[in-house]
Amino acid sequence: MQTEATYNYKVVRQFAIMAVVWGIVGMLVGVLIAAQLVWPQLNFPQLGEWFHFGRLRPLHTNAVIFAFGGSALFATSYYVVQRTCHTRLFAPGLAAFTFWGWQLVIVLAALSLPLGFTSGKEYAELEWPIDILITLVWVAYAVVFFGTIAQRKVSHIYVANWFYGAFIIAVALLHVVNSMAMPVFEAGILTPKSYSAYAGAQDAMVQWWYGHNAVGFFLTAGFLGMMYYFVPKQAGRPVYSYRLSVVHFWALIFTYMWAGPHHLHYTALPDWTQSLGMIFSLILLAPSWGGMINGIMTLSGAWHKLRDDPILKFLIVSLSFYGMSTFEGPMMSVKTVNALSHYTDWTVGHVHSGALGWVAMVSIGSLYYLIPRLYGKVEMYSRDLVTAHFWIATIGIVLYIASMWISGVMQGLMWRATNVDGTLTYAFVESVKASYPFWTIRVLGGLLFLVGMLLMAYNVFKTVAGAKPVDAPVLAPAHA
Ligand code: HEM
Ligand code: HEM
Repeated sequence: MQTEATYNYKVVRQFAIMAVVWGIVGMLVGVLIAAQLVWPQLNFPQLGEWFHFGRLRPLHTNAVIFAFGGSALFATSYYVVQRTCHTRLFAPGLAAFTFWGWQLVIVLAALSLPLGFTSGKEYAELEWPIDILITLVWVAYAVVFFGTIAQRKVSHIYVANWFYGAFIIAVALLHVVNSMAMPVFEAGILTPKSYSAYAGAQDAMVQWWYGHNAVGFFLTAGFLGMMYYFVPKQAGRPVYSYRLSVVHFWALIFTYMWAGPHHLHYTALPDWTQSLGMIFSLILLAPSWGGMINGIMTLSGAWHKLRDDPILKFLIVSLSFYGMSTFEGPMMSVKTVNALSHYTDWTVGHVHSGALGWVAMVSIGSLYYLIPRLYGKVEMYSRDLVTAHFWIATIGIVLYIASMWISGVMQGLMWRATNVDGTLTYAFVESVKASYPFWTIRVLGGLLFLVGMLLMAYNVFKTVAGAKPVDAPVLAPAHA
């Protein structure tokens, strides 16, 4: 029942369930493309080009980042902003539009990418008609989120909302600027194809300003919002240092914006911009670790809960991976290190220690907290299945990233090895051959992670099947 006195959980429920569904779809495609690298027959060439690696890879990245990660961010931000502002979500019609609009974006992406429509910009592959729909959904999201903050019943804006708010504003800015393009007319008719408004090195710079901040704001700031709400809630402790969380916020959002050029080391980009990107990436270690320490130390006095609370395990291990990937990132941004790591599987290992270790684990932990509460339950159907999920997922990540580190460093070293006469020691194909065992281990790691997600889907199904959706009453400000 939705009355003025209850929170709007309907849209939270919709996004939370779809996060699990899209997580499975995106990771299934991840496992398929990982397997294609080992068994090329899985490109199914006899069926046409639709299942080729080149078509499915962007489908994987879009599905896991925007469909799975995006749905988890929508669900948790709508939940957190209502509860911490002690008010019902602003503009419920617009909130419903964000749900259906975002699902439409995902379906259009799933159709257009395998069909070969792409702008060619990584993580921004979708063509202009879909880009316009994304902009509309995003503006509606901003109105709902900031409208809820504007009608809050407490003067304070809890730090999680600052992170969610920065994520919403920054993504709007990044998306609009990077997607500027000129549609192609064929025989006077408008087509879905377009070309970037920027050219050459400028295009690359804008793209990686976008790309890196997609990491910084979509894959980090929003999930830090999640972390600042769900870690204290699950631990039953206040945030370790609220002052540190505020410093963390301003330092992180200021620094991220400058780090993009580390994706373009040794390119036609002016050398000073590359060095600037490197310096800001090194500085980025400090706020990132400040946030990680703040999250982990929130467990002070409650460490014993880690022993038997699988949700806390998910949340704390996600923070450990966050710390690990934000140590690795600055290191890889050093030009001499990047000379080895760039183009190799090391980058892919780094990506997934952030994406699986941090983004997926913090989302899964938060969803396990959230879903029972949206259906009037105290906890998930089976705590043992949550524990099993945790261990299977953790082993899967370790297999994935360790194999990528080894193959990445091996590839880098093989490509630069020279004989005494200056000729290359290895042909490129020899490095491909040497990578096969590691790619096979990655398939296994990914498969384990996917199995964990299937356990989650079963557990979620058993939790919500037959249960009545419950919209909790809006609490008076004294009861956060
Ligand atoms: C079952 C889990 C997963 C598997 C098996 C998997 C597998 C893969 C594979 C095989 C690639 C292509 C690597 C290459 O081109 O050499 C890839 C790329 C990528 N994946 Fe995943 N993935 C998984 C989960 C995720 C998740 C949850 C995210 C994000 C939240 C993610 C984000 C990405 C990104 C951003 C790339 C592009 C990396 C780059 O360009 O360097 N993946 N994944
Ligand atoms: C202090 C924080 C971080 C820094 C300084 C950093 C730095 C870097 C560097 C130097 C690269 C390699 C660029 C190249 O050689 O092409 C990279 C790639 C990447 N990182 Fe990070 N990283 C950080 C954190 C993260 C986190 C937490 C995630 C995920 C949640 C992430 C996701 C990615 C992705 C997706 C790429 C691949 C981009 C592509 O080429 O497609 N990074 N990062």
